[in-house]
Amino acid sequence: SERARFVVVANRLPVDRIVAEDGTVDWRTSPGGLVTALEPVMRKQGGAWIGWHGAPDEEVERFTHDGYSVVPIPLTSSEFEEYYEGFSNATLWPLYHDTVAFPEFHREWWDAYVVVNRRFAEAAAEVADEGATVWVQDYQLQLVPQMLRELRPDLRIGFFLHIPFPPVELFLQLPWRRKILEGLLGADLVGFQVAGAAANFLRLVRTRTDHKIERDHVRVGDRLCHAKAYPISIDTEGFAALAESPEVIAEAQALLDDLGHPKTVLLGVDRLDYTKGLRQRVRAIGELFEEGRLDPAEVVFLQVATPSRERVEEYKRLRDDIDLLVGRINSELGGVGRPPIVYRHAGFPRATMAAMYRIADVAVVTPLRDGMNLVAKEYVACHPGTDGALVLSEFAGAAKELKQAYLVNPYDLNDMKDVVLRAIEDPVEERRRRMRALKRQVKTHTIDAWADNFLGDLEKLSRR
Ligand code: G6P
Repeated sequence: SERARFVVVANRLPVDRIVAEDGTVDWRTSPGGLVTALEPVMRKQGGAWIGWHGAPDEEVERFTHDGYSVVPIPLTSSEFEEYYEGFSNATLWPLYHDTVAFPEFHREWWDAYVVVNRRFAEAAAEVADEGATVWVQDYQLQLVPQMLRELRPDLRIGFFLHIPFPPVELFLQLPWRRKILEGLLGADLVGFQVAGAAANFLRLVRTRTDHKIERDHVRVGDRLCHAKAYPISIDTEGFAALAESPEVIAEAQALLDDLGHPKTVLLGVDRLDYTKGLRQRVRAIGELFEEGRLDPAEVVFLQVATPSRERVEEYKRLRDDIDLLVGRINSELGGVGRPPIVYRHAGFPRATMAAMYRIADVAVVTPLRDGMNLVAKEYVACHPGTDGALVLSEFAGAAKELKQAYLVNPYDLNDMKDVVLRAIEDPVEERRRRMRALKRQVKTHTIDAWADNFLGDLEKLSRR
């Protein structure tokens, strides 16, 4: 079949294949920031997106979606367990997020990681046209740049890491640290969310490999590999337009009716992931209700947690913990009507999310560690006017850009409580001043600019 000039390689496709009990097949937008960010890029660029379709043990044919080609890569159920749930999400994910959960190291998981990375590299080698640009995404595929370079030296290869790149001391725990560094060095350009991540990477290359470093690039044989920060963003206009659509405005109204028109809506939106700081957030806001500093009759805390990686142990524990915490707070507080915390463990369509952003007076985005966090940007883009407030963790990549947010240390519960209250009670001029600055930031730093910057640099640097 047809070869592409532009190829994205990511563990996930933009759509997941869902097979119902009765065997009917449906496709649903995949969760997470990577898909939110790259989907508009792909719609604009065209080309091919290589990725897994989310259903183990199933082979799916290549198809066309929104004007680009979708190339599904199969995973067996044991690869799903060892490469995806295991090495990607129980080794790398916690390690790269400052070990907020304990990473597990298993040699069989690594072996599966190598096998699956090779499969993705081979698929890319087959799909990419002569001299094409291939853009490899995220921690699940760190070996692909080098593998692909060996198969197809003619290609221009970029890599972008959507999650944090850990401090040197943590990365060094990885038994396979050298191989991962060499894997990434196969790219012409390695992009990170923040400058500190690129610095961590370069420091590791300097001390743990034999390659020479000059400023922001590494000499790898007769080529160069550059490392730099490219903070990712969203389709700001697209989100803002969606939030202004009559359907979303009506849905927002209906939501407010359901919630009984509270005076203040606090909103949390996350994948149900232990990096998101949900335990701390629910406890902090729960205490504000318990202490009477927030009135359950006037304030509602709406928390949406999208199901994610549900069979991984740490995620199961988190789900139980949050169920228990929310249940306890709701059973002890409030009247007999709407509870103070409205918690939904479910994914919602983008329009419903936009309706929630519309009605939220304060968005509470408090991850313990996050590569960027696009929910923060989505809220800023979608909330109408300038009287909303964003409470944002210092440990999200987004805090480096959204400096006018109400910044918090999510481990400091008292601080979080004070800051949430301040976000609600600050004079309207103060909230407006902050929100105006935030809106300016997300309007001028869009996903288009991100892709143009990265791909522009990739083209320049690989030509040298
Ligand atoms: C984060 C990761 C993505 C991932 C997404 C959803 O945003 O950076 O690579 O796709 O989470 O997680 P999942 O495991 O469901 O793909």
